[in-house]
Amino acid sequence: MDMQTIKARAGDHNLENYEEKYKNFNWDEVKSNFTWSETDKVNIAYETIDKHAADPAKKDQAALIYSSPDREETLSFDQLKRKSNQFANVLKKYEIEKGDRVFLFMHRSPEFYAAFFGILKVGAIAGPLFEAFMEQAVRDRLEDSEARMLITTPDLLERVPLNELPNLEKIVLVGGSDSDHHINFEKEMQKASEDFEIEWVDLEDGMLLHYTSGSTGKPKGVYHVHNAMIQHYQTGKWVLDLKDDDVYWCTADPGWVTGTSYGIFAPWLNGVTNVVRGGRFSPDDWYGTLDDKNVNVWYSAPTAFRKMLSAGEEAVKKHDLSSLRHILSVGEPLNPEVITWGLKAFDLRIHDTWWMTETGAMLICNYPSEDIRPGSMGRPLPGIKASIVDNEGNELPANQMGNLAIKEGWPSMMRAVWDNPGKFESYFINGWYVSGDSAYRDEDGYFWFQGRLDDVINTSGERVGPFEVESKLIEHEAVAEAGVIGKPDPERGEIIKAFVTLRDGYSESDELLEDIRQFVKKGLSAHAAPREIEIKDTIPKTRSGKIMRRLLKSWELGLPTGDTSTLEE
Ligand code: WTA
Repeated sequence: MDMQTIKARAGDHNLENYEEKYKNFNWDEVKSNFTWSETDKVNIAYETIDKHAADPAKKDQAALIYSSPDREETLSFDQLKRKSNQFANVLKKYEIEKGDRVFLFMHRSPEFYAAFFGILKVGAIAGPLFEAFMEQAVRDRLEDSEARMLITTPDLLERVPLNELPNLEKIVLVGGSDSDHHINFEKEMQKASEDFEIEWVDLEDGMLLHYTSGSTGKPKGVYHVHNAMIQHYQTGKWVLDLKDDDVYWCTADPGWVTGTSYGIFAPWLNGVTNVVRGGRFSPDDWYGTLDDKNVNVWYSAPTAFRKMLSAGEEAVKKHDLSSLRHILSVGEPLNPEVITWGLKAFDLRIHDTWWMTETGAMLICNYPSEDIRPGSMGRPLPGIKASIVDNEGNELPANQMGNLAIKEGWPSMMRAVWDNPGKFESYFINGWYVSGDSAYRDEDGYFWFQGRLDDVINTSGERVGPFEVESKLIEHEAVAEAGVIGKPDPERGEIIKAFVTLRDGYSESDELLEDIRQFVKKGLSAHAAPREIEIKDTIPKTRSGKIMRRLLKSWELGLPTGDTSTLEE
């Protein structure tokens, strides 16, 4: 075990003494920061935007600095308030009500943020979809949530199977033309009033649906409520260490939970300036963004760090990165080599954070005020009880590997899996939320990630369910059966590898393999398409017909195959 630690740098940090806080803190303390603590009627959009717009000292501060290779636009808190009010009025006009699901399927843009807050302001539930999703992925989510309205752009509308979605009554097109038979975003916004009376809701009312993958079945709608703001706000302070005049950049797309909890809520609840960079990733573009926007606090992911590392020292030296004060990481294991690179390239530590779509906010973290142990995800937040448990939910002693689990009941915990109570309940054992990750805890309370306990694949920090990919593969005319695994990869963490058997009359060729790959890419999304496909004579299955992905993985990695007693003849 590598016990080398990297000391905290002295400074004025928002979390000063972790151990003491951990002992004494109670989440109720956070509530007094919010005026709703007196009324219990609330709206996260108000706390995130309108509250700052009502503050003469903050209203003209840049809330959003949007930039992409072909567009630059800055919106103050006041402007973002007015635009989201306008969109809330548009939603009212088209009879969107509290609790309705309104989905967003568009590239990041100032319009996205105006629409997103408009949805929250009418008390509806926002469902942001990753822009790279293709038809099947879009259909599954809109169908399951019974979304009434979708806000999208003409190029992405082609991927929405309108005829197959009976609940989807209305389409709002951003950047559409007069000939479209849909609601025109720009025209409606022009006509809409900038005043809007926010729909005040209960803390336990819904605000967000994020679909995420498990090892079986279609993606599941993870349901979050307004109450999550308590944890978004507080982790923004303690972990992101946000200060009033900070410029902050979270690189995640709002189609994933990091892009909402930490690309929208945590920074704006804390009233900082939030940078959003559109366009494609390249190390040079990102170094340029850190430099041009004078970013102080930067939250990104190991895959991006590894690519930036590979671009070499010259790429770093071209830029002035002296504004950068604090760097954080999420989504995959953060390799100690990357931390070493961070120290060299930026003279800063990279702080790992662990959490999930289901947990809504950070749970186990490294703090700017505390020492870090490279390779460890850190220690639980004050107010969070984390542990390692066995399959019955009994706590295990230090240094023993098991299920990483959290005592249920933290503020940002998902409140349901959409239309699937059984799935929701299956996460909890003996009062613990069981994450599906394996880990151990050392004697000092630091947690060390070991891997997934199920077959969920983590490729470049994006969660992919093997079942979804397998289902798509067998829709291809040449594919009879398919089994999909994550194969370790130095840059992406894992890549998707598919094993398939062919139908009679088909034989292996490079063209066929490429055609199958493209089929998944066009049907599901680029990040879900297998990078490797191998043809097999049979796919190993249990007697009850379940694909034995574990066996496929052992074969692939040349590991012992373990218990194969359930393998069919
Ligand atoms: C993995 C992203 C190692 C883990 C916020 C988890 C991590 C899944 C870390 C959730 C980390 C997240 N170290 N692995 N610091 N953070 N993971 O739902 O397997 O997209 O269960 O949420 O990512 O992915 P999700």
